[in-house]
Amino acid sequence: MTHPILQLTYISTRHPQMNPEEVDRILASSRRNNGRDRITGFLLFNGRRFLQHLEGPPDIVQATFERISADPRHRAVVVLGRKHVDSRIFGKWAMAFERVDSPVPERRMSLVAQVEALVAGIDPRVGDHFIGYARLTTNKAA
Ligand SMILES: Cc1cc2nc3c(=O)[nH]c(=O)nc-3n(C[C@H](O)[C@H](O)[C@H](O)COP(=O)(O)O)c2cc1C
Repeated sequence: MTHPILQLTYISTRHPQMNPEEVDRILASSRRNNGRDRITGFLLFNGRRFLQHLEGPPDIVQATFERISADPRHRAVVVLGRKHVDSRIFGKWAMAFERVDSPVPERRMSLVAQVEALVAGIDPRVGDHFIGYARLTTNKAA
């Protein structure tokens, strides 16, 4: 039997010339398009690296990821996980987002802390998976 949902998680590095304000634009088009396309997930940014999880109908996730991969605002896109499953993990978010590079120190959290907050309440085995991805991203950014 075919699974109705494709989950895809990747990391990437922002283009050095990308204006940080572009991130707001990326998020606005992500929320608009993903709402229309029934894609859910999250997008995290720590000032240098992106960590994104997309989930939804396989063809649409694939097409969206191809569009994202070709976006010149980031590069070195590396797929960390790609899995066909029966149900979504982040069903309620068109694209949950945290800017980890917040200028407000109290709002600045590590990618790992952000992921920990995001996955609180989901199956811990699944949550640990994403925390592992965030650790990887943080290490690569170091
Ligand atoms: C790190 C990153 C994440 C992105 N995530 C999404 C996304 O989840 N959904 C989406 O439609 N576009 C996303 N984009 C933007 C796409 O690359 C592309 O610019 C956009 O989908 C074009 O659609 P628009 O013309 O409606 O803005 C992302 C871009 C970057 C750099």
